[in-house]
Amino acid sequence: MTETALPPAPTPPAPKSSGRRGLLRRLLGASGSLIVRLYALLMLLVILWAGYTAFAYLTRSVFSPSVLPERYRGLQTSLDVGTLRRDRAIAEVTAETPPPPGHYHGVDRWFQPDPNNTCTAAACHQPLPHNRQKETRAFANFHTTFLTCRMCHDAHLVGSAKTIWLAATTGEPQNQHPAVLRLMRYLELNDERIRSDPAAGHAAIVGPLRETVEIAGPDPLLEYLLVELETSDPGSPVWRQTLEQLTMELPNHLRGEYRARLDLDVAAGERRLANRQMREWTAGFVAAAPDSRQREDLLRRMHENVLPKPAACEQCHGTRPGRIDYQAMGYPPSRQQALESLTTASMIERIRQGQPFHWPTLLERGPARPATTQAGP
Ligand code: HEC
Ligand code: HEC
Repeated sequence: MTETALPPAPTPPAPKSSGRRGLLRRLLGASGSLIVRLYALLMLLVILWAGYTAFAYLTRSVFSPSVLPERYRGLQTSLDVGTLRRDRAIAEVTAETPPPPGHYHGVDRWFQPDPNNTCTAAACHQPLPHNRQKETRAFANFHTTFLTCRMCHDAHLVGSAKTIWLAATTGEPQNQHPAVLRLMRYLELNDERIRSDPAAGHAAIVGPLRETVEIAGPDPLLEYLLVELETSDPGSPVWRQTLEQLTMELPNHLRGEYRARLDLDVAAGERRLANRQMREWTAGFVAAAPDSRQREDLLRRMHENVLPKPAACEQCHGTRPGRIDYQAMGYPPSRQQALESLTTASMIERIRQGQPFHWPTLLERGPARPATTQAGP
């Protein structure tokens, strides 16, 4: 037996899977590149779309300025003179002037008019009379909500003055300081006492707070704080927490929310006489023919003691003693300190005098000026 040739070595069976794996790989390769291509296409579309949108937005905003929507254009504002002359609650004003969506432009404080002011009652001057000098008009107008005109415009006034609170409702001096000031002063000066004898503190706080709520007009937060205090045990955690909240809230109800204005302290008879005289003059002025001698004469007489351009804001905000003795008028000591050295006032005063206004260097790094170096030993 001859050895026959060796049977051909069996070709190793082609690995079963190899064909499939190749196919899979090819398929994966094809679909992989398809995915990559699709992804690239998508990115290209996104970039093109974003580029187009940005360009279109830029072109539109430059060449066709947007128009204020009708609902805002038709918005009625309450700041006309007639409204300012009437005594109205803030709820009434807000109902009439629905604020745009959100809290922007909402009316949160309202103007308390002074129907006994002889300069504004006859409609010679508006309730917010300043409109000429833009540097000061907002400040001067804001002050008419808690000062009578002559506190700034009296030509004979120099140094400190004796002042009183004049009730806006009657035009007569009121024998108590505004309730909110009394309350703030009490809270500031009696911290220890309130802690050791909450019941006594409670009695002293609730009365003026109720009065403040009445004077400031319907105010949901103040009303809520009053109810919380009235219905909790003096000294309890709820009571103390409410008191803390009240202490933080009260400063928001200063300035024009007294239904009273600071005025010079003159004898009651003298005040009434001067007011009667002024009413007669203003009535005569309104009735007289324009450009008549009589009118000019009355105008001159009415403004005899009037300083047309009151001087420095610093008379009340930068000198000690200034025109107003704040503590004697019921302000708490911390408020007196703040009002007597009000940087805003001295800044406005300098701007008014035409001096350049420099931004504060407070936020800049390091000292504003290089520190002077000490000579070595
Ligand atoms: C805080 C002080 C202050 C009070 C309060 C005040 N004024 Fe003035 N008033 C000024 C100052 C300051 C000027 C000068 C503005 C300027 O430099 O032109 C002025 C100017 C004026 C002018 C000139 C026109 C103008 O628009 O500037 C009139 C009118 C006027 N006041 C009326 C009144 C009447 C009316 C009251 C009371 C309802 C009043 N002022 C209360 C500070 C005050
Ligand atoms: C006749 C005195 C008087 C004059 C003049 C005066 N102020 Fe005042 N000012 C006051 C009083 C009083 C208050 C405090 C009102 C309150 O809180 O009851 C006040 C408050 C202010 C406040 C608010 C401060 C705060 O913390 O609430 C600013 C700001 C201010 N004054 C700026 C000025 C400027 C600016 C001028 C000059 C145009 C000026 N004042 C002139 C009396 C005056």
